[in-house]
Amino acid sequence: MHTESKYTTARLSIRRASEIDGPELGQLMHDGSIQDMINPSCNTIELFSVERIRYIARTLTDGALVGMVAVKGPALSYCVAPEFRSNGYGGEMAKCFVEAIAPSTGMSMIEATIIRENISSRRLIERLGFSFVGLTSIKFGRNDGQAAALVYRRHVNR
Ligand SMILES: CC(C)(COP(=O)(O)OP(=O)(O)OC[C@H]1O[C@@H](n2cnc3c(N)ncnc32)[C@H](O)[C@@H]1OP(=O)(O)O)[C@@H](O)C(=O)NCCC(=O)NCCS
Repeated sequence: MHTESKYTTARLSIRRASEIDGPELGQLMHDGSIQDMINPSCNTIELFSVERIRYIARTLTDGALVGMVAVKGPALSYCVAPEFRSNGYGGEMAKCFVEAIAPSTGMSMIEATIIRENISSRRLIERLGFSFVGLTSIKFGRNDGQAAALVYRRHVNR
């Protein structure tokens, strides 16, 4: 597997996360609003693993950490820091991952599991051409509670 280490979008520099990013990334993923929405398997205990391909997005202007996007197997996860939300950054970052990064990883399909109440994430994923394939119930959030979630899939175009 070979992935380019750095990509650029209109406003973001997106590159493979490294140990240097650890403290900032850990802080980002400790945010309650992220922990409530993201699958516990994507939490801070395992920021770097062999199986996970993780990229971080920083602003081109001043290098501020905007968010991260990762896959482990086909499972996609992403988050944007609260102060950057609702400005199109999540869409910009995820689009780059799905259309430019994923094809270079050799993966053929990406899957996103999104809890029902997470409207902005559902909109983001639907805009990226993912198809709804079914409902599931999965552990999410800080309390490890069960939540109803939607499963989406998209083929990776090469
Ligand atoms: C989900 C998340 C990544 C979206 O990031 P973002 O930068 O705010 O996303 P965007 O600004 O690109 O918006 C994506 C879509 O959601 C919509 N949206 C943004 N904020 C919204 C809000 N507060 N309420 C409803 N819709 C919203 C946008 O209008 C856009 O839809 P559109 O393209 O149809 O206009 C971000 O909210 C986040 O990190 N949440 C916590 C972690 C999380 O939920 N991760 C995903 C787990 S599956």
